[in-house]
Amino acid sequence: MNIFVINGSPKGEGSNTYRLTKAFLAGMRESGEAVEMREMAVNRLNIRPCLGCFSCWNKTPGKCCITDDMAGVLENMLWADVTIWSFPLYYFSVPGPLKNLIDRQLPLVLPFMVEDGGEDGSGSHPARYDMTGKRTVVISTCGFYTAQGNYDGVSSLFDHICGRGNYTALFCGQGELFRVPELKGRTEEYLSYVRLAGREYIGSGISDKTWESLGELLYPRKIFEDMADASWGVDRETGKKETDSLIFTRQMATLYNKESWPGHDLVLEMSYTDVNERYQVVLGKEGSTVLTENFRTPTTTVETPLTVWRSISKGEISGSEALMHRQYRVEGDFNLLMNWDAYFSGARGDEANKQKKPSYTGVIHMPSKPTTLSILLIPWIVFWAGASINSFWGSIAALSACALVPLWFYRNQKTIYDVMSGALVTGFSILSLVGAPIRLIIPLAYLAFGVMWTASCFFKIPLTAHYSMYDYDGEEALENPLFIKTNRILTLAWGVLYLITPIWTYFILGTGIGGWIGAINSILPVFMGIFTAWFQKWYPAKIARG
Ligand SMILES: Cc1cc2nc3c(=O)[nH]c(=O)nc-3n(C[C@H](O)[C@H](O)[C@H](O)COP(=O)(O)O)c2cc1C
Repeated sequence: MNIFVINGSPKGEGSNTYRLTKAFLAGMRESGEAVEMREMAVNRLNIRPCLGCFSCWNKTPGKCCITDDMAGVLENMLWADVTIWSFPLYYFSVPGPLKNLIDRQLPLVLPFMVEDGGEDGSGSHPARYDMTGKRTVVISTCGFYTAQGNYDGVSSLFDHICGRGNYTALFCGQGELFRVPELKGRTEEYLSYVRLAGREYIGSGISDKTWESLGELLYPRKIFEDMADASWGVDRETGKKETDSLIFTRQMATLYNKESWPGHDLVLEMSYTDVNERYQVVLGKEGSTVLTENFRTPTTTVETPLTVWRSISKGEISGSEALMHRQYRVEGDFNLLMNWDAYFSGARGDEANKQKKPSYTGVIHMPSKPTTLSILLIPWIVFWAGASINSFWGSIAALSACALVPLWFYRNQKTIYDVMSGALVTGFSILSLVGAPIRLIIPLAYLAFGVMWTASCFFKIPLTAHYSMYDYDGEEALENPLFIKTNRILTLAWGVLYLITPIWTYFILGTGIGGWIGAINSILPVFMGIFTAWFQKWYPAKIARG
């Protein structure tokens, strides 16, 4: 299949629209069909305006009297099975140089008047060459928040050129966002749909589902327009140019997702150490405000070089890694940083995150709800408490708890540790039922529990991280070295506690209060629980303070 691309943006390869076109072409290539591609960028061509002399109709039929690059364009159009027009919307139409190219297609038609077959009956000219089977794709971006209502002129133009419904049009608003590296999470998601569209176009046609994704706004109107306004770097009231750090802060503030408002306003102070400027972003119920003076008491202060924060926003470096390497400091409530993605995801961010494929290796399948530590703990607790009171009924109760765990997995995701716990407790319960001494089996069960926790510290994701990630950014948190380090320390602390628990458990089981061992062994975990709650806030904040 021969594909000819006309890049009609004055920016050539730097065009926003061309990013979409490239994604569409990549999809076409992936389709498996043998495709040959040719491209021409109008900004590199010498195409003079049509003189209106009609010599291509009468004096030299099919040949224009102007000698320039247009002859090559026409040649490629005749060669192509699919011609792709890629251009920005300029004043609700096509850019001027592209309009010149469109006008210069006159040699491709014959002068005679015919019915165009369209509903409007406006008249038409027959094709000079056999154009049967040739297809057209029109790809365009525009600057307003939506394509709707902006493309009437372009649609009317191509309706007349190709015939209504005889071409595929992909029009996209918010086009300038495609060049913003900080937003590539969303723009690349959109480009992946364009790519899919390219693949489907070659096959059975673009599916309704893909059209639906392509029809979605990149960002909600308000966020986009605030972001666009901030990007010009000009004060709305005074018209004066703003500093780079203020423009950057304003743009960041526009991405605030007010759904994540925690019930009270948060004041984020950004102190840019390299340019010696600071601003505050107030995250409120109705949206965010940037303060340049009359500062409030900050909830959280980030002291960072502007260059570092920029690189983090662009995804060039990871925020948590930069923190570990002391590239910036955080004072005050560290929770704001821990939940950064929830606060600054833009209104669509959450949705986009949900669509991400699970890359997380500990989860075996993905039911609707995240896992919970109760799934892991309940079989153990039932066994420890039950079997120490009555080895037979306690073991039966523990086996029943293990049997119920798979039901839980219908609703909650499971981790390898939930599965291991079920298997181990089942094993210990059976041993107890077949008469193994309970004074040995219960300490052994504590030991196995301790070994499982401690051993997990030697893996990439320590045990507690599998569960606590849902209190933070979900699977994203697993990429956060600070989160992992905090969890590694906590998992180890819990692991060691259970490695030593068998010592006193063994002796207590030999006394008259052996039946109370489940209750006795709950005392230390209560304190450990309090320590855990404190440590998981204190430790990251300590690191953040530098
Ligand atoms: C002269 C000019 C006219 C424009 N007219 C419109 C317009 O009518 N409607 C619109 O939504 N965007 C308009 N835009 C914005 C562009 O369509 C938008 O920035 C587009 O993404 C640029 O694409 P490109 O990088 O592929 O050239 C205009 C831009 C310029 C420079």
